Amino acid sequence: MHGRRERVAELRGLDPAEIERVLDVGGIDLGTADRMVENALGVLALPFGVAVHFRVNDKDYLVPMAIEEPSVIAAASHAAKRIKAGGGFVATSTEPVMIAQVEVHDVTDPAGALERVVAATGEILKVADAAIPTLVERGGGARGLSVRDLGEGFVVAHIEVDCREAMGANICNTVAEATGPMVAELCGGSLGLRILSNYCDLRRTRVTARIPVSALGCDRTDGPTAARGIAAASKFAELDPYRAVTHNKGIMNGIDAVVVATGNDWRAVAAAAHAYAARTGKYGPLATWKLTDDGGTLVGDLSMPLAVGAIGGALRAHGGARLALDILGVKSSTELGQVIAAAGLATNLAALRALATEGIQRGHMRLHHRATHGDKG
Ligand code: MEV
Repeated sequence: MHGRRERVAELRGLDPAEIERVLDVGGIDLGTADRMVENALGVLALPFGVAVHFRVNDKDYLVPMAIEEPSVIAAASHAAKRIKAGGGFVATSTEPVMIAQVEVHDVTDPAGALERVVAATGEILKVADAAIPTLVERGGGARGLSVRDLGEGFVVAHIEVDCREAMGANICNTVAEATGPMVAELCGGSLGLRILSNYCDLRRTRVTARIPVSALGCDRTDGPTAARGIAAASKFAELDPYRAVTHNKGIMNGIDAVVVATGNDWRAVAAAAHAYAARTGKYGPLATWKLTDDGGTLVGDLSMPLAVGAIGGALRAHGGARLALDILGVKSSTELGQVIAAAGLATNLAALRALATEGIQRGHMRLHHRATHGDKG
C-alpha cells in the first residue's frame, strides 16, 4: 500500500506525507467528524483506491474510488483500458444549471398566476441573483424561469440557476427562499415549499466510448463474440425493467465510488439517476451498447443528470475528499461529472462483458485475484 501511495504522489505531484496523514485516519479525524454531524460517535471507513487507464477527452486520470465491494476498482480499470484502445471516453455536458422550486397552493386562478409569474421573470431573476452575489461574481447566477399548473390549486415555479463549480443545493435553497414570497404573491396563493429539485435534468453529462471489437477479446472469448454478447445484454436491459435496475446498479458502482470519494452527495446523484432512467414512463438503462453495422466497433453511450461539486459541501471539511480531487486533478464540476460518468460506463462494460462471457462470479473473482495478487490470474 505504501508503495502505491508513493507512486500516486509522484504521478500527481502530491506530497506523500500529506497522503499518509489524510488516509491513515480515513480522510477525517474525530474532531472533524464531531463538527460535521450531530451525536457523532466516530467515523466509519471505506476502502479508498484508484482506478487506472482512464482517458476522458484526451486527458489521462487516476480515478479515486471509495467502495466496499471487491473487484469494482479492478473491473473499472480493465474496462477503461479496453476503452482506451478505441481512443478513450468522449464526454460532453450541459451547463451546470440546477432548479430551485417554489411551490404555491390555494391558487384559485392558476392560468392568471402563470401569466403573472412569466411576465415578472426579469424581476424574479433579479431577486434571485441578489440573494447569491458570490456566485454571480464567479460567473453563475439565475438563468431562466418556468412555471407549471399542477392542478388542485398547486402551482410551481422553477428558477434555473447556473451553479458553476458547486453542487448547488444550498444555492438553490437560498434562491427558492428569496424568491418565494414574490412568487406566492403573484400567484395569489399560499407559499409552500422552497427547495431545490434533485431532479437536475438540465445538468446532464453524456459519455460515449467506441471500442474496436478486437479489444474486447481474451484467451477464453474472442472479441466479436464478447461484443455481440455485450450488445445483447444491453438490449435485454432496454426490454426489461427488472434487468435495467441491475444494469444501472452496475453503472452506479462506478459512479457512486467516485461521488463518495470526492465528498459529493451520492443520495442526490442516485435519486436523479433513477428518475431519469424512468423518464419515458418505463424504467430503462442509463447506458446502452450497440455494434456498428459492420460489426467492427462496439459503441457505449451513457447519459444522465449529474449534480456534483468541485467546491463547497463536505469538501470544506473532508481532507480525504480534497485529496481525492487532487488525485483526480479536475478543474471544474463539469469535468468532475464527466470523469464520474466515465467510471459508470466503465463498470457497466466490465459487468456486461463478464456476464455475457464467463459469468460474473468467475469473471469478477478473477479480476479481484489479479488486482490483489498481480496480473497473472
Ligand atoms: C454487481 O455489483 C453489479 C452487477 O450485478 C451489474 C450487472 O449485472 O450489470 C454485476
